[in-house]
Amino acid sequence: ASLANRNTLRVNARAKLLAELRDASKLPELLGFPAVRHAPLLVLGEGSNLLLAGDFDGTVLAMETRGVQVEHDGDVARMAVAAGERWDDFVRWSLGQGYAGLENLIQIPGTVGAAPIQNIGAYGTEVAEFIESVEAWDTREHRVAQLDRATCAFGYRDSLFKREPGRYIVTAVRFALPRSRELRLDYAGIREELARMGVAKPAPFHVAEAVVHLRTRKLPDPAVIGNAGSFFKNPVVDAAQAAVLKQEHPELPAWPQPDGRSKLSAAWLIEAAGLKGQREGDAGISNRHALVLVNHGHASGGELWAFAQHVIATVAAKFGVRLEPEPVVVGAR
Ligand code: EPU
Repeated sequence: ASLANRNTLRVNARAKLLAELRDASKLPELLGFPAVRHAPLLVLGEGSNLLLAGDFDGTVLAMETRGVQVEHDGDVARMAVAAGERWDDFVRWSLGQGYAGLENLIQIPGTVGAAPIQNIGAYGTEVAEFIESVEAWDTREHRVAQLDRATCAFGYRDSLFKREPGRYIVTAVRFALPRSRELRLDYAGIREELARMGVAKPAPFHVAEAVVHLRTRKLPDPAVIGNAGSFFKNPVVDAAQAAVLKQEHPELPAWPQPDGRSKLSAAWLIEAAGLKGQREGDAGISNRHALVLVNHGHASGGELWAFAQHVIATVAAKFGVRLEPEPVVVGAR
């Protein structure tokens, strides 16, 4: 089966078998089929955080379950959302219902089921804050697991699901959203954008609108040019290395972490290494945002992966910092 329309980097890769799941209760039965049981499995939402570096010699499980269940509990709503729901639809729906919390996370591509896996985050908010638990099929114990937030072990673009790859298949996410919260405005230009909009007393939907403006300006639209958002994580380095780098490059953005280490701007490092807007064939780095790997047309997964490795090697040689890919990379040789 072709996966060309199932990944936002628009890689024309293939899988041996493709299964579309619309009813989560059918998952155990599906996994029991011999052709599925004895081959590797790749769970796919929108494919917006994925690089198919080669063909996938196994089964792709496309999560297409839908549904939202809401329970009101005073000023908090508890929502159980099916893994296959589109993340951005859910964000917009929750804001429309008058719930706060997800306004900074608007316009992120992908599905609800994928959100906890990399703990999506933007503009000073991470989804983990609003997750009560994640329902998943535990392929090792062959049962449904309800994993509470602590068990999910969320970190920056990290979780239990990334650390135990392949073990859990997320089937639903339970959120708790408040009617109001202290808005997060001190990140990446939100305040400035609100001022430009002429908003003095922002409500969550104003913040959402500001974030939409900022993202639209900064990030290439996957509907226009193939990409998977940030392709690299912002690297966290120890205090000594950060101090040396800051001395050599005072303009390098660095954010001190609670543990004393420092998170550096990968986009700045890539741009300063002269790679922004560069390409090799159809694989390249966006000229709009240096963190974004783009497919200008017909790059293969192997070509995109080779260019990503060129970026990693160039930044390592120039700054002594090793960037890590953020998306799931499948089929790399
Ligand atoms: N910068 C450059 N060159 C560029 C772009 C940015 O030098 O081409 C520098 C600028 O100094 C800028 C700084 O990098 O001030 C930070 O840029 P930005 O605000 O765009 O944030 P980021 O750290 O590059 C992270 C997330 C994004 C998220 C934004 C906004 C990661 C890996 N990425 O990017 O997430 O939208 O913050 O909060 O943490 C994603 O994960 O796909 C994603 C888009």
